[in-house]
Amino acid sequence: MNIQENISLLPYNTFGIDKKARFFTKVHTEAEVKTAIQKAKSLGLPLFVLGGGSNILLTQDVEALVIKIEIQGMRVIQETDQEVFVEVGAGENWHQFVLYCIENNWAGVENLSLIPGTVGASPMQNIGAYGVEIKETFHQLNAIHRATLERKVFDWESCQFGYRESVFKHALKDQFIITHVIFKLSKTPVFHTEYGAIRETLQQMGAKNLSIKHISDAVIHIRQSKLPDPAQIGNAGSFFKNPTISHEAFEKLKATYAEVPNFPLETGVKIPAAWLIEQTGWKGKTFGNIGVHKNQPLVLVNYGGGDGSEIAALSRKIQESVKSKFGIELHPEVNFI
Ligand code: EPU
Repeated sequence: MNIQENISLLPYNTFGIDKKARFFTKVHTEAEVKTAIQKAKSLGLPLFVLGGGSNILLTQDVEALVIKIEIQGMRVIQETDQEVFVEVGAGENWHQFVLYCIENNWAGVENLSLIPGTVGASPMQNIGAYGVEIKETFHQLNAIHRATLERKVFDWESCQFGYRESVFKHALKDQFIITHVIFKLSKTPVFHTEYGAIRETLQQMGAKNLSIKHISDAVIHIRQSKLPDPAQIGNAGSFFKNPTISHEAFEKLKATYAEVPNFPLETGVKIPAAWLIEQTGWKGKTFGNIGVHKNQPLVLVNYGGGDGSEIAALSRKIQESVKSKFGIELHPEVNFI
């Protein structure tokens, strides 16, 4: 195992923040994961697990053994007339996995095309877009328990998925390292086109005999037209989660802002954070090397050379504005380090 010291994490986070790892190594197998856990113990340092680095904001150097998960492989482990179970290494790029499913005509993840990051990180926050979340195709995952080095299998129930949530962000935070995820994909597609932008794009594309490839192409088109490409402008996708407010709070809000976009749920009403941020005047604002994206204000950006703590400070100012204008708390989706 090649362990490097004091290396820059700039190539390993999509925000493009230049902070250092005290120690850094890449792991390709379950055995290497275990070795790395032991190594961190012998160094007397915490272990910090990095996937695609697409959901973190580095505000300081990481005084830890940083391990980048590079476990590869996609293989069918079970198949019926209707379904296929595919086991995927945690280090595989998410979008490559989506493309692999589309090539094989396995449905279920096409709406999640082009989401940055790795397969291993996808269950952590139950990634979602355009009306679909991974909990709908998730079957189970394998993870190594950091304390005992034992492998544990987590089924759907035990992951406790919620909106951008799972047990791995709460009760089991920092306790397991995900090595493989098994997805259950369908050989007969159920198309999710209820999201307005998808319907419109499919119409513009003149898609006939709808296929999962059409949906994937439409999602790719929407994402590329709205969201900044991290390879060009540093970002971590949505910076905040969309807040849910009570039905009463929503009625009050609507009395003042009749046009407020809203998504009613059983537990309350979901309000797009993008709208709240736009209303408080932050959309498209630039401060030195950082700012709020001009098309999608839910995305904070680093134009190059920006500092993680500056971005964190900007995010707090946005939270304060939204709180004081609307009385609504925004919670970051991105993990601050
Ligand atoms: N809106 C505005 N101003 C804007 C942009 C959007 O007011 O400049 C309002 C509009 O009313 C729009 C609504 O916000 O209808 C929703 O916008 P959008 O469809 O772009 O989705 P979102 O709620 O902002 C969520 C996810 C995205 C995902 C999209 C598409 C969260 C935190 N974000 O964003 O996920 O791609 O839906 O499904 O749930 C990510 O997590 O990194 C991510 C990009």
